[in-house]
Amino acid sequence: MHELVTLSHNLPETARAPLTGVTGNGPRIFIQTYGCQMNVSDSQTIESMLGEAGYRFCDSPDSADVVLVNTCMIRETAEVRALGQLANLSSLKKQNPSMVIGILGCVAQAKRKEVLESHPYVDLVVGPDSYRRLPILLEERFISPPGTPGLLETTLLREELYDDILPRHHGGVTAFVTIIRGCDKFCSFCVVPRTRGRERSRPLPSILREVEHLVAQGVRDVMLLGQNVDSYRWEDRDFADCLLAVADIAGVSRVRYMTSHPSDISEKLLRTMGDHEKICPYLHLPVQSGNNRVLKEMNRPYTRERYSEIIELARRIMPDLALSTDVIVGFPTESDDEFMDTFRLMEEVRYDTAFMFKYSERPLTKAAARLVDDVPEDVKVERLQRLITLQQSIARERNEAQLGKQTSVLIEGAAPKDRNMWAGRTPDFRPVVLPMNGESVGDLVQVQLAALSGFTFHGARLS
Ligand code: 5AD
Ligand code: SF4
Repeated sequence: MHELVTLSHNLPETARAPLTGVTGNGPRIFIQTYGCQMNVSDSQTIESMLGEAGYRFCDSPDSADVVLVNTCMIRETAEVRALGQLANLSSLKKQNPSMVIGILGCVAQAKRKEVLESHPYVDLVVGPDSYRRLPILLEERFISPPGTPGLLETTLLREELYDDILPRHHGGVTAFVTIIRGCDKFCSFCVVPRTRGRERSRPLPSILREVEHLVAQGVRDVMLLGQNVDSYRWEDRDFADCLLAVADIAGVSRVRYMTSHPSDISEKLLRTMGDHEKICPYLHLPVQSGNNRVLKEMNRPYTRERYSEIIELARRIMPDLALSTDVIVGFPTESDDEFMDTFRLMEEVRYDTAFMFKYSERPLTKAAARLVDDVPEDVKVERLQRLITLQQSIARERNEAQLGKQTSVLIEGAAPKDRNMWAGRTPDFRPVVLPMNGESVGDLVQVQLAALSGFTFHGARLS
């Protein structure tokens, strides 16, 4: 998964701090979240549990009694960044030895013992299925004598869904709602199935309850999250049914989702999207490679031809569909010609957004066990740069083609660069600013996309 503002499920390597809030009068806690929206959503679940247990939230580690770092390890850079933050905390702990430091998330799960060995000042190592134990583990830690080795809790539980916990909403019109946890796809490059465990869907009634609760707090735009939402199943309901049920909730203006998998996406889903105005015409469909041999090595069980057919069908059903993807360059054994297949696929599809990555060997993956990371770094860099240059010009052209279009904008708040303007997004997630004229946050306004500055549109209000 991806960065919040750019709607990607891997917007991982950005650190996000929680808003300050006060619930209870217990110890002060700071949670720093790295990684995808799934981690952001997990941090909100943790905040809800710890808020109930009486913790207060603060906005900096300097004034905290407890600091939890929710980590990502999808690529090596993400892991290094999160572990670097832990190292920074060790100096704070020297000044305040009673401070409790915990590491959560994917690095905690995959590198449990190594983390404790290499970072002996860490008090807690807790994996994604064990957050329910955090209040008890923290209490235990508060009373353990100095020098007690850190506590480790990394059991992967097939049944853990946290579906009875309403995550702490940080305000705003947009919220993430996790509908399926884990992943059974085992793409050969990806560590996620090892850190987040097997796939399990959340019961539909608990999803709907959470969305209703969010709507009552002013949320209008709901992003349904999962590593592979297309395999959502609860009783006889599939993902399209879930999407529709969420869209039917009064007060919800828009529903989006991520991520889809080309092997599992259904025509029913595409038609459901096309038939319902509240379901945004935005599809994030990672292709990873445009070459069939590489796709096979990646354990992505579809072909380039099948992928193109899905895109064609989706665009036939939704002519205004915005498309995004994830691509990896320099996967082991990828030749120049095979890379060019990816390049040409991107030229053909013409994505609105693409998240492009250099292959990064990850522990516990099939690719790491069976293949040598043999594409030299300078070749990876060059391939990545070629794709970025291509994609930038496609994205610019696709944006320019939107000029003059009439569409709706969901108002998210004042524009950061001009507090007299509203900032919002179109249904296909393009950022728009427009002059304020008595509307409120959460309103839908009809505009014409009148001008473009960088990647932001200027909207002219339609009466
Ligand atoms: N190296 C580079 N990119 C990766 N991704 C997942 N694992 C790796 C890796 N080992 C990318 C994929 C995935 C996105 C979330 O991150 O493109 O879709
Ligand atoms: Fe990783 Fe593949 Fe699962 Fe996505 S679908 S989380 S890339 S294993």
